[in-house]
Amino acid sequence: MEISVVGSGYVGTTVAACLADLGHTVTNVDIDEGVVDSINAGEAPIHEPGLDELLAKHGGDRLRATTDYDAVRDTDLTFVALPTPSNEDGSIDLSIIGGGMESLGGALASKSDPHVVVVKSTVVPGSTETELEPAMRRAGAGENVHVAVNPEFQREGSAVEDYLNPDKLVVGTDSEYARETLAAVFEPLIERADSDPPLVETGLREAEMIKYANNTFLAAKISLINELGNICKEYDVDAYEVAEAIGLDDRIGEQFLQSGVGWGGSCFPKDTAALIAAAERAGYDPALLKAVVAVNDGQPGRMLGLAERHVDVEGSRVAVLGLAFKPGTDDIRHSRAIPLIEALRERGAEVVAYDPVAGENMRERFPDIEYADSAAAALDGAHLALVVTDWDEFTALDEEFDTMATPVVVDGRRIVGRRDGLTYEGLTW
Ligand code: UGA
Repeated sequence: MEISVVGSGYVGTTVAACLADLGHTVTNVDIDEGVVDSINAGEAPIHEPGLDELLAKHGGDRLRATTDYDAVRDTDLTFVALPTPSNEDGSIDLSIIGGGMESLGGALASKSDPHVVVVKSTVVPGSTETELEPAMRRAGAGENVHVAVNPEFQREGSAVEDYLNPDKLVVGTDSEYARETLAAVFEPLIERADSDPPLVETGLREAEMIKYANNTFLAAKISLINELGNICKEYDVDAYEVAEAIGLDDRIGEQFLQSGVGWGGSCFPKDTAALIAAAERAGYDPALLKAVVAVNDGQPGRMLGLAERHVDVEGSRVAVLGLAFKPGTDDIRHSRAIPLIEALRERGAEVVAYDPVAGENMRERFPDIEYADSAAAALDGAHLALVVTDWDEFTALDEEFDTMATPVVVDGRRIVGRRDGLTYEGLTW
């Protein structure tokens, strides 16, 4: 099929590249000329495992990029993957995607053949019906343009693999034509996927909500195991042994039970905040979701509390190991390292930070702390080490702790082992 994808962020680019690999002809529309040139040259504009290969194979050929919205007219269907950031109060900011829908509407105004516009971005329930579709129609899209919602469940760091092997494909629409067209788009994906992903057919609002329910459920699962973990710690119980046992209950499941310093990234914090704001706007008080956020916000402070059982943070040299919000990425958005570094500085500590890839990004956020180029260098002379990201390389740390001024480690990810001579505190074990 002829497909267009508006937006070349990490969702748009991976979706476009995967659709090309599935045999579709894909046009990626983005306002950034640098990104467009890079796609046409067969080079991935972002880093995601497997994406370089797909771009090298299809970029400039079955996958082309342009800055011209009019290009969507020559396609059968358009996925919209534009950013939906947060306003100051946590509520969703639809201005970027709204502008994109308007441009789309203008481009489709002169088209008479049927066309399907699919919202892929994460938007709160009702957004497509009450704001996005009307913006597109006002700009000229006619009755031949059908609307659907198809949320994405990719994780950063495995976006290509997740797209090609989804646990479900959610199609929300009131239009039979949109449903059939999307089913045809997904046919080669379903054929190729390792296990047959079910097609969940639902309404626009349900599809929008499924994305929020999925993400906030996972965030809540982590906050719950973190709260249980905090209680475990008070009673000298190993939360990981507890998690392993409860994970054997199929109703709970073993995944997302790693307790520690909490969740970050570009999705969980933004989506929980947006759903809380949407609930409140509707007059409902989402007490549990607020607690999910509060528990997460409290974990860095728990780490510092444990540290202060052994060292006076004020005036101490503190090594922060891991700055990315999770391993395998240089993304520091809502990384737990940020509130930790802020709190350390407030308490008068001297911070030395290390991350294998995210140092430069954190330098923009905190230009005046020290950055080490290895974990060993960060530990050298430090009075305290805080482990924030579960990078594999931290498992190998051993004699490096001997160079610390006082060998005290608070591990927020259960990644460093206990060893003789080391004062070790696990956050929840
Ligand atoms: C998350 C979801 O997992 C994806 O399904 C979703 O598509 C994506 O958001 C999105 O909405 O775009 P991602 O933000 O890439 O994906 O990261 P995850 O791998 O889910 O990790 C999120 C955070 O939870 C990380 O900070 C991680 O360290 C933390 N985490 C995860 C824990 O603290 N404990 C766990 O057991 C698992």
